[in-house]
Amino acid sequence: TNDRLISPSILAADFGNLQRDIEMLNKSEGDWIHVDIMDGLFVPNISFGFPVTEVAYKHATKPLDVHLMIVDPDRYIKRFAAAGAAGITVQFEACPNLHRTVQVIKETGCRAGVAINPHTPVAMLVDIIGELDLVLVMSVNPGFGGQHFIDNTYKKVAEVKKLADECKPDLFIEVDGGVDQTNAGKLFSVGANVLVAGSAVFAAANPSAMISTLKHA
Ligand code: DX5
Ligand code: ZN
Repeated sequence: TNDRLISPSILAADFGNLQRDIEMLNKSEGDWIHVDIMDGLFVPNISFGFPVTEVAYKHATKPLDVHLMIVDPDRYIKRFAAAGAAGITVQFEACPNLHRTVQVIKETGCRAGVAINPHTPVAMLVDIIGELDLVLVMSVNPGFGGQHFIDNTYKKVAEVKKLADECKPDLFIEVDGGVDQTNAGKLFSVGANVLVAGSAVFAAANPSAMISTLKHA
């Protein structure tokens, strides 16, 4: 079914063994591979860029779910599409001309996503949601893996689900940040259909088993 997808984040992978970790994800019950791009401006951290994304694409048998936590993402959308993204998600707060940005993503053939930070109301999406393939509700302040899940996320996911039921029933509703086996089941039950997990997966003794645990939570 398409209503319980897991998108493990390689931000928490071992970059010295990235091929090995991607091959683990290929064999797991994970559905997408989440790729976190941070520029040190939109968020107070720098992750990685095109070379690492290209390596992930080279080894992955699953779609790359690219999350751009960068200012002015229009500058790089075509390059991330060329590097292998299947979907590109931009941050609402980084896009003064969001409608145009979404069209630029769609022109590349990628699935178009918009992420909202913990302080951004879901209502800000009412005039764009019909154009989107995916809404990402951030459940931590973006910038770092391993942070604590913010409980207000459940309410926001339910609000996105309500909007989607009205005007975009096939919308992917994704949650990112602090997702683990203690909140995954409740997130699915309030309307999320894609869960990102970084440290919960890669810090687990058995990452592949943890992916299954989250998917069936
Ligand atoms: C946070 C990133 C997340 C991060 C999640 O800024 O967008 O995708 O990798 O990591 P965990 O699951 O450890 O919170
Ligand atoms: Zn992310």
